[in-house]
Amino acid sequence: MTTSVESSALSGKCVALAVTGSIAAYKAVEVARLCIKAGATVLPLMTTSSTRFVGPITLAGICGQAVAMDMWDASFSGEMHVSIAARADVLAIVPATADLIARLAQGRADDLVTATALCARGPVLVAPAMHPRMWDHPATQRNVAELRQQGRIAFCGPVVGPVASGENGMGRMQEPSVIVQAIAALLAPPRDLEGVRIVVTAGPTHEPIDPVRYIGNRSSGKMGFAIAARARARGARVDLVSGPVAQETPGGVVRHDVETAEDMKNVLSAILRDDLSGADAIVMAAAVADYRPVVCSTEKIKKTEGDVMPLALTHNPDLIAEIGARRSSARPVLVAFALETGDDAHVIDYAKKKLAAKKVDFVVANAAHESLGRHTNRVAIVSADSASPFELASKEDLADRILDQIAERLVAQP
Ligand code: CTP
Repeated sequence: MTTSVESSALSGKCVALAVTGSIAAYKAVEVARLCIKAGATVLPLMTTSSTRFVGPITLAGICGQAVAMDMWDASFSGEMHVSIAARADVLAIVPATADLIARLAQGRADDLVTATALCARGPVLVAPAMHPRMWDHPATQRNVAELRQQGRIAFCGPVVGPVASGENGMGRMQEPSVIVQAIAALLAPPRDLEGVRIVVTAGPTHEPIDPVRYIGNRSSGKMGFAIAARARARGARVDLVSGPVAQETPGGVVRHDVETAEDMKNVLSAILRDDLSGADAIVMAAAVADYRPVVCSTEKIKKTEGDVMPLALTHNPDLIAEIGARRSSARPVLVAFALETGDDAHVIDYAKKKLAAKKVDFVVANAAHESLGRHTNRVAIVSADSASPFELASKEDLADRILDQIAERLVAQP
């Protein structure tokens, strides 16, 4: 099925569709068909190994175009990869194997698909498909992280589900209709948050013990940075208040670096102002330390003889709860996170308690062992009257789910 949104984004556009060697290659034919149905021209490219899974004649027949495969085709005048990259409004690699992703991450140009990807100046969409163990492998995850960091390539999937071997896990290619939606979104990204002011916090806080030591936690900041990047891409004005992390600032986002919970509170107060009129929504993704040392020694603390080293801690202010308590209208929309250990029911239960205690609109509940430091997360979004089912997805995709909820709330309660 194609919707009118896809039709208006794809109509008259040229999609270069590159197919690589995975069993999911047969689904690329459906992607081509849906793009054409939505009014696009599709230029099909195939790697040699993909022809073992789907016939070039099938793809050529659907696209009404010969399949480009050989960079050295003497009958082609000019450079094939340069010509395709120049003609295409978007390049979609469907499916993308682990090997293709590795070659993209290295910037290789050793076949027509990688050379075209390197030459493309428009958006590039990658729909990975592989066995879950290949997707989970640190080498693949490093390559995916590298490509995400470069910011030139958008990923669509993979998703959790049955794979060709009969096993179940993260590695199944996203469904063709969703891939076509993602291609359409790249051509005409939704700007539903145009002009909305969103404040996002991210990362840990570090609470100093002495000049060289601190209390901290393992938050990487990835989730908060993904939310900031997606909010910006959807048109929002974004202030990102970040604890100490090693993350690149997303383009167009205003970043405020802080160290402690107290620093974060001060920056938030300055942005939000006394009446909280400085933001339309606040997403509190930071792992703010609940406690800090009562005193921070000005000198480095020395070892002592005894077995026990007492360290007195005091409560940090609960930043989001203080904002929740002060809020007297539907603005700003407040989103807190709840990182918990335990089974799903237990995690949801805690999230509901947090929702009421902190007086927020949404709590994003996630299980600690499936979140910290990873590129994916498994979350449920809990509000006063609903809880979405747990979804395992990339932090970018989950960022969009959270922003969808905020956008809906802003429209429902203007
Ligand atoms: N938070 C905050 N200020 C704090 C602590 C947490 O604003 N001092 C926010 C976090 O950014 C997050 C949510 O509150 O959005 C997490 O709630 P919290 O109660 O801190 O979670 P836990 O510490 O995991 O809760 P508990 O120890 O009570 O289980």
